[in-house]
Amino acid sequence: MPRAVVTGGAGFLGSHLAEALVGGGYEVVVVDDFSTGRRENLAGLADDPRCTVVEHDVSWGLPVSGPVDAVCHLASPASPPAYLARPLETLAVGSEGTRHALALAHAHGARFLLASTSEIYGDPLVHPQPEDYLGNVSSIGPRSVYDEAKRFAEAITMAYHRTFGLDTKIVRIFNTYGPRMAPGDGRVVTNFIEQALAGSPLTVYGDGTQTRSFCWVDDEVRGLVALLHSDWTGPMNIGNPAEFTVRELAELVREAAGVDVPITFAPLPQDDPTRRRPDITRAGAVLGWRPEVPLREGVERLVAWYRAGRPAPARLPDR
Ligand SMILES: NC(=O)c1ccc[n+]([C@@H]2O[C@H](COP(=O)([O-])OP(=O)(O)OC[C@H]3O[C@@H](n4cnc5c(N)ncnc54)[C@H](O)[C@@H]3O)[C@@H](O)[C@H]2O)c1
Repeated sequence: MPRAVVTGGAGFLGSHLAEALVGGGYEVVVVDDFSTGRRENLAGLADDPRCTVVEHDVSWGLPVSGPVDAVCHLASPASPPAYLARPLETLAVGSEGTRHALALAHAHGARFLLASTSEIYGDPLVHPQPEDYLGNVSSIGPRSVYDEAKRFAEAITMAYHRTFGLDTKIVRIFNTYGPRMAPGDGRVVTNFIEQALAGSPLTVYGDGTQTRSFCWVDDEVRGLVALLHSDWTGPMNIGNPAEFTVRELAELVREAAGVDVPITFAPLPQDDPTRRRPDITRAGAVLGWRPEVPLREGVERLVAWYRAGRPAPARLPDR
């Protein structure tokens, strides 16, 4: 049975990836410091002997023994409030954490998948964004702790590939949504759903004309697994190219939740990108991947998940 290490595997995306890998025949070792992740995200694997959990900060090393066939490095705060609250930890996990994850893959001759981000493109001057667009990123603004950490992570990943021939893949993830996103972590889809279900006004930052593209989590994870198993080296956008204004999203959430709450407006945060949309030509050509779940359907599914209540916290075995 192949064995994969998933850093950040107790987070939103990492827990879905861990489940997909176990379902695909892997044994999975999750390494997570639970800074933004939760044990309850792994409830579906709690009694599964194919999944073990190591509680550790990967900025300090990756204490995994035994064979390793793949390393998927997802550990990092991901939402703006989470990384703005942990600026130095975010830089550390993007730099030192990525170096430790690469060293583990190198020591075992394992495949390496880096979870990078559309934030690599900053406030893009090219639209939609293809992988060869170099980006428009502030190196000193508040968001730079995340953006530049990920840019460094990409650079060291390519350096390992060029220096040691390591089999590396870089996925540039665009906004993804679905069950297990942390409540109250400031991401726009869950913000709106939580406000709508509480009967509160939906807060739009700016005038709501800024655009985003939202990918349902199962589509995203299918892309991550396909990329991991591909021969591709280097960056690949995985996201849904259907572009919506934030105002349109707010209206869609109101409809999906069946509530008639007002939409209110608040100042736009600094360096908030005005447009975001992946060019997924490469993912289509190389992986045959494209997203399948339209935003309306995904939002309806997520509202239903919220209404059904969250799974009870689970206790997983530590190693
Ligand atoms: N969700 C998205 O829309 C999105 C978009 C672009 C990129 N990404 C990237 O995907 C990855 C996962 O994002 P997510 O949305 O699941 O976020 P998340 O916060 O739910 O998950 C991140 C996980 O990493 C863990 N972690 C953080 N720092 C760590 C450290 N030093 N050591 C060990 N574990 C640590 C957290 O506890 C958490 O479980 C991140 O690297 C993020 O940058 C996500």
